[in-house]
Amino acid sequence: MTVLSQSPSSTARPARGSAAGGTRTPTLLTVSQVNIIDLARVVSGDAAETAKLTRAMATDGYVFLDFRSAPATADIAQQVTAVYAASDDYFAQSRDAKTRDTRAGQPAWSDRGYKFCASDESFEMSSDELRDGRLELPTPLEKQAGALGEFQTTCHEATLAVLSRLADGLKLPELHERHEAARASESGLKLIAEPSIARASDVLENKHRDSGTLTLLFYEAWGIQVCVEGADEEAEESWVFVPPPPAGCALLHGAQSLARLSGGRLRSPLHRVAQPADGAAKRYFLSYFLRPERGLQGAWEALDAGVAAA
Ligand SMILES: [Fe+2]
Repeated sequence: MTVLSQSPSSTARPARGSAAGGTRTPTLLTVSQVNIIDLARVVSGDAAETAKLTRAMATDGYVFLDFRSAPATADIAQQVTAVYAASDDYFAQSRDAKTRDTRAGQPAWSDRGYKFCASDESFEMSSDELRDGRLELPTPLEKQAGALGEFQTTCHEATLAVLSRLADGLKLPELHERHEAARASESGLKLIAEPSIARASDVLENKHRDSGTLTLLFYEAWGIQVCVEGADEEAEESWVFVPPPPAGCALLHGAQSLARLSGGRLRSPLHRVAQPADGAAKRYFLSYFLRPERGLQGAWEALDAGVAAA
């Protein structure tokens, strides 16, 4: 799957035992069991919200980020509705049409453009290219270019605000400095179509950690599981489904660059796409990946590839 990327823990094999589909009764968290962080208070530098955010990202490694009370993002639900509609239009095209959007000349760890695998397909738009007007969008997305640009800006600025507060909370300015706008990065907005399938037990195992810094996920159907203990693949793992975020909120979780830059003080939780019950249906994810400056991420990707090959 492509919700996350090239971490050595990524796999794609049939589920077994309690794997992605699973045969055990799934554990479903309620919304009240997830820490909710108010973006407006994060932006204003509220000390109590910063402490709550830092604590949650150091323990669970994920929160719900609530966009609704920040004046600049109060209309997030309408933005999300427009981007879901654009996704539906895009993925309804023929495979041939979408394959023409495959990006050549990119490093293997870049997710730009159209990608397809057994369980999902995706189209990722580079934040740098969107910002600079260098990205030529496919026709179904061009019709919603304004909404996509607005949504990308909202997500980018929200993740940078969160990163600033984490840098403050931990007194680690490098966290923020490695994400300066002047330095090229692979940050991007990814549209993902990953339908649920007839038999939940047939879901392919896809556990992984994201390779960027922060991941924002908008989704309306149950489908994200997080490992709450035994993150070592050799250990017994315990998985919980994180519910769809309330309207106007998104799941925000840490990724590998965040863990590395914080010296392991902030978590990059092992997670996967799964489904708690049988049933084939359309299912979309809107993902925003904040990634560090390109040179740093490239160096770490090479290091991880070496570890995986060893
Ligand atoms: Fe992921």
